[in-house]
Amino acid sequence: MRKIACQNFKGGTGKTTTVISLAHCLAEAGHKVLVVDLDAQGNVAESFGVECENSLYDLLVDGKPLADCLVEARKNLFCLLSDQTLAACETVLVTRPRREEALKRALVDVEQILPGISVVLLDCSPSLSILGQNALVYVDELLLPVSMDYLAMVGVGQVFENLKMVEEYFEKEVRVCGILPTFYDQRVNVSKDVLAALRERYGDLVMPPVRVDTKIQQASSRQQTIVEFGGRSRAREDYQKIYEELFV
Ligand SMILES: Nc1ncnc2c1ncn2[C@@H]1O[C@H](COP(=O)(O)OP(=O)(O)OP(=O)(O)O)[C@@H](O)[C@H]1O
Ligand SMILES: [Mg+2]
Repeated sequence: MRKIACQNFKGGTGKTTTVISLAHCLAEAGHKVLVVDLDAQGNVAESFGVECENSLYDLLVDGKPLADCLVEARKNLFCLLSDQTLAACETVLVTRPRREEALKRALVDVEQILPGISVVLLDCSPSLSILGQNALVYVDELLLPVSMDYLAMVGVGQVFENLKMVEEYFEKEVRVCGILPTFYDQRVNVSKDVLAALRERYGDLVMPPVRVDTKIQQASSRQQTIVEFGGRSRAREDYQKIYEELFV
């Protein structure tokens, strides 16, 4: 089972879209996958148009059994959802011993509860937080979506710095499995410049870009993923390519 966090401390770089799209590509190919929403914005539930009885807060703070917190949003695609209550989770966790391991402990039985599960994808919030640390203590890999602007590129450096810190403090190594350029628009110079700068600095870690595509917003307004939205679209093609690079 692969455990991958999607993280960038910069907001709006396509983290949630990437998690949702790759999870659905995986599920459609017959893989069992779990998506965990570590962001109090609750965008995963909104994106799939699903609700839960027990959220990640109930799992982490109240110790509800994992099986009672899972929702099957699509065939083979399970979710641990969040909403604004997750914000209070930080203040509770901070008082607890080994607070950075709460998620790891809560998910320890995931392979018994979801037999045959092949991937766990974590959608992180755009901030340095205890839940963000929990994500890194749990996963082995990190996927880093970067939108095509200079501030998002600064965020890449911050993520690498934070990984070094996690390695030092928690003796946990997390491998960056890809830097994913998002919102790429080849008509715009800054897109080409940022992509070139990323490739120069990070070489083969930089994946093929996901192009800007209004179909993503249209799909999400219907609570659909780009996989089920129908028709051909750039984003569908691009995420399929990323899925194949990462998982096939
Ligand atoms: N390739 C794309 N083309 C056009 N719009 C996109 C693309 N990717 C994502 N979007 C849209 O951009 C917005 C931000 O994307 P998303 O929510 O995935 O970012 P995020 O990094 O998860 O944001 P946050 O930091 O707030 O969690 C959303 O409205 C989404 O539908
Ligand atoms: Mg998000």
